[in-house]
Amino acid sequence: MKIVSVVGTRPQLIKAAALQPVLRRDHEDVFVDTGQHYDDAMAGNFFGELGLARPDHALGIGGGGHGDQTGRMLIALEPLIREAAPDAVLVYGDTNSTLAGALAAAKLGIPVAHVEAGLRSFDRRMPEELNRVVADHLATWLFAPTAAAVANLAAEGIASGVIDVGDLMLDLAARVSHEVRDPASLATIGERLGLPLSPGGYLFATVHRAENREPAALAAWAAMLGDAATPNRPVVLALHPGTRAALTAAGVTLPATVAVVEPQGYRTSLALQLHAAAVLTDSGGVQREAAWLGVPCLVLRDRTEWVETVGGPDSSSVLVGLDRTAARRELATRAPVDGSPEIAARRAAGLHLTGPGAAERISVALSAGEPPGAR
Ligand code: UD1
Ligand code: UDP
Repeated sequence: MKIVSVVGTRPQLIKAAALQPVLRRDHEDVFVDTGQHYDDAMAGNFFGELGLARPDHALGIGGGGHGDQTGRMLIALEPLIREAAPDAVLVYGDTNSTLAGALAAAKLGIPVAHVEAGLRSFDRRMPEELNRVVADHLATWLFAPTAAAVANLAAEGIASGVIDVGDLMLDLAARVSHEVRDPASLATIGERLGLPLSPGGYLFATVHRAENREPAALAAWAAMLGDAATPNRPVVLALHPGTRAALTAAGVTLPATVAVVEPQGYRTSLALQLHAAAVLTDSGGVQREAAWLGVPCLVLRDRTEWVETVGGPDSSSVLVGLDRTAARRELATRAPVDGSPEIAARRAAGLHLTGPGAAERISVALSAGEPPGAR
């Protein structure tokens, strides 16, 4: 089958790294990068680290407002897809690159394959929710990562073409995480960053969701990270450039106990999660990785589409939104200063992840052609 696969952002490059080897073994793959993310630390470095092929088409779209950015992607994608005349256009996740890829293909009558179909936060103020709803309703193959995602699609009347393939990102985490199990990998990262990092002796944070870039939200999570950090247990914040710009624009400064670093590579991100006392994040990907690695995780959102990660009292993750009191309480019980080094050491020593084989399942389903009853 001839497939045009579309990426554009950091998490999509990471997902493509899990799928591309299998896709290219079994199919003809035209790899398109919209360039929604463009800094080396957000995009370029991942090609080398993850062994991704160079894009066949790099559209260089960059940032901008939603309509502007998505519109420029549509303008660039339409002639490219028409010219390539693929059997399917494959899109990942829920970004503006996902929306543009799905919409451009559907308008040309080309079947869409959506990886990570069926996720719902049920909050349409999140731009990602709009993107995933539209992509799902345009898709012919809906590769759901979880049973809950399948149920969400069924509730919207979508059953044909839905396959629970498991989580593609777990395939990659399972392939790579053993490389960062040794605490020596953390020491090397600490040296590079100029931070004394020891297992369980720091907290790892990432923040980038649109709602957390509003001025009041910036001040709230900055204070929350300040509460969480102590001189002996700093917060390491791998700062998305969009969040950095929002902090500057709003004049919000971070407490000195928060060590701000550039966005890191994939293995470094896994290592910083695995060996942390706890993770604080609003990222969908980090939220799941922290759950797989077994690291306590405070989710700085009111809702999540990854409901399994915050499933119950035994779950290692919890939604705290921007509630400082809840964050203090959850950290005290889930990541006590005294016990965390031993817990982190045990966690890393016992780490063994198994991938669900999502990449293989996706490729096999595509090989089988359009599902019966395809819309
Ligand atoms: C996007 C996705 C979000 C995803 C996130 C992953 C949408 C609507 N949002 O959010 O779902 O979770 O990627 O990280 O598609 N910037 C840079 N350099 C870069 C990339 C971005 O400086 O390499 C800055 C620019 O100021 C840009 C801003 O960040 O305008 C926002 O970037 P954008 O790609 O529009 O959205 P993200 O917040 O990254
Ligand atoms: N990640 C990374 N470097 C960082 C922070 C995150 O490589 O500094 C990885 C993280 O391990 C996960 C992915 O980026 O695999 C998640 O992407 P992101 O948080 O940008 O987007 P989301 O998952 O929220 O859409």
